[in-house]
Amino acid sequence: MLHGPNLNLLGQREPGIYGSLTLIEINRQLETEAQKLAVKVFTMQSNHEGVLVDAIHDALGKHQGILINAGAYTHTSIALRDAIAAVNLPTVEVHLSNIYKREEFRHHSYIAPIAIGQISGFGAQSYILGLQALTFYLRKNI
Ligand code: DQA
Repeated sequence: MLHGPNLNLLGQREPGIYGSLTLIEINRQLETEAQKLAVKVFTMQSNHEGVLVDAIHDALGKHQGILINAGAYTHTSIALRDAIAAVNLPTVEVHLSNIYKREEFRHHSYIAPIAIGQISGFGAQSYILGLQALTFYLRKNI
């Protein structure tokens, strides 16, 4: 699970849009769901594009899939898209807010075209749905 820029401030960051749960609480919920699904989730957050690129490279050989909320890098980062394409790991893109209901610059995702799919608009539940979707996809394809 890769959390991108500004998501470390969840809980205090624009709660009307992103909700009141902190990143730690979201990670805890993911951990609980992972136990139910009998999968392991490794979580990390960075505000730095290159650190996220490195984490995607590091996933190769260690992890079976990627769950990512790239935050604003969703809409700007060809580097993150290329990194995901390079490692070729099944990837699910998630967003707390419905990016299509918001400003036009959020309507485009560089990651969506190379992801299995995208879940957007369900608040913290987007992460749970994303983990379920990725697990379902991996089990179906083994
Ligand atoms: C976000 C949506 C992005 O547009 C924004 O830049 C974020 C959070 C979301 O989870 O709704 O940082 O990815």
